[in-house]
Amino acid sequence: MENQVKKAEGKLGILIPGLGAVASTLIAGVAAINKGLSKPIGSVSQMSTIRLGKRTENRNPLIKDFVPLAKLSDLVFGGWDIYEDNVYEAASKAKVLEQSQLDQVRETLEAIQPMKAVFDRDYVKNLDGAHVKQGTRRELADAVIEDIKSFKEANGCDRVVVLWCGSTEKYIEDFEGVDVYASLVNFEKGLDEDDKRISPSMIYAYAAIKSGVPFVNGAPHLACDIPALVELAIMAQVAIAGKDFKTGQTLMKTIVAPGLQARALGVSGWFSTNILGNRDGLVLDNPENFRSKEVTKTGVLEDILDAKKSPDLYKDLYHKIRINYYPPHGDNKESWDNIDIFGWLGYKMQIKINFLCRDSILAAPVALDLALFIDLAQRAGLFGIQEWLSFYLKSPQTAPGLPPENDIFKQQIKFQNTLRHIMGEDLITHLGLDYYQELVESMI
Ligand SMILES: NC(=O)c1ccc[n+]([C@@H]2O[C@H](COP(=O)([O-])OP(=O)(O)OC[C@H]3O[C@@H](n4cnc5c(N)ncnc54)[C@H](O)[C@@H]3O)[C@@H](O)[C@H]2O)c1
Repeated sequence: MENQVKKAEGKLGILIPGLGAVASTLIAGVAAINKGLSKPIGSVSQMSTIRLGKRTENRNPLIKDFVPLAKLSDLVFGGWDIYEDNVYEAASKAKVLEQSQLDQVRETLEAIQPMKAVFDRDYVKNLDGAHVKQGTRRELADAVIEDIKSFKEANGCDRVVVLWCGSTEKYIEDFEGVDVYASLVNFEKGLDEDDKRISPSMIYAYAAIKSGVPFVNGAPHLACDIPALVELAIMAQVAIAGKDFKTGQTLMKTIVAPGLQARALGVSGWFSTNILGNRDGLVLDNPENFRSKEVTKTGVLEDILDAKKSPDLYKDLYHKIRINYYPPHGDNKESWDNIDIFGWLGYKMQIKINFLCRDSILAAPVALDLALFIDLAQRAGLFGIQEWLSFYLKSPQTAPGLPPENDIFKQQIKFQNTLRHIMGEDLITHLGLDYYQELVESMI
């Protein structure tokens, strides 16, 4: 497959609906790294190595040296927001990074002014910005297509990806039975008829895919994961992935739960609570928006600790998640997990995790990697749902009817093997019997 991967030549535009905390932390971080002021810690694409061939071959290149990814110095950022703040102002308000650090890249950030957003307050009740486009859903989709085209031309980009970092939209119940989502024909009719069941994020996703531009959804609501847009992605041969950046508490959950499951330890309860004071927390303070998050956060455990496969260990698992808006903490989310487990002969034990994390510090490298890898997928001719990127996502989009894999270690194997596959390297099964066969043969 290696020969089929187009080179990452020229500039890659990263267009972001939602220039808030995550997006501004990502953009400021890339600017600081490009100036040599910092390092891309937490970015697997930039910092991690990948093993190639046998363990004895000692081939462990950095991933960025192994696969042809866009260079950080070739990235150009832009986006949309319902507020007019440029990225310097947005980052200053988000208070994730120190002001002195932002000032070092002020010029770059100030130059990024958001385009007018596609917004419908019915989907995000707790926000009310005026920097929004007017028109029917069809007109809005056409306007975003035009935005993408003009941005690409104005910035001399070779390629563009769209990465949703906007607020969490309200939860949509039973979307599978909704006609307007069911097929591309219905969806396009819905755009023409200004059907309110089409959310703003679906309009951005449609516009991106229609423009031949890959789309990633970093939030927990529906966007590119409705049948109509999966159909469009396949027809247009465009890569898509979602949803919800895997950071913070869920990252911890998908690290700890596979370990307990791997050692056949029982789990009877997992209570997770969070306090969070940023704008994301404010949006999630609304029950309809919280429901989107609750669903993506809940699914991971039920999948890893599967009561159907192991009833003796997980049939009584009680899983509860709470998120409380608490302004004094800002972006510094604090989470507590109480895990009730049991071992040999059913004896009970407890694990307590108190994670004092920084939400956007964890999310920014994930957002960066998703943008770089979805661009790689597109250049490698991989289109439609990119499940191998589930390594970065809380609620991985999969083929219809295919259960997602939430265990981060299995996701990592899939992710690394996909990179090896793209580059024509042998896949690694970790069987390793050949080393011992060689040893035995050397002794007889
Ligand atoms: N930070 C994390 O660790 C993390 C993890 C997983 C998912 N997320 C998700 O990422 C998203 C961004 O998080 P954040 O902390 O940056 O939030 P934020 O509130 O700081 O930023 C979101 C921005 O989106 C804008 N926006 C809302 N609707 C829009 C629209 N229709 N078009 C354009 N802009 C729009 C808002 O005005 C805001 O500036 C949220 O949905 C959040 O749930 C974040």
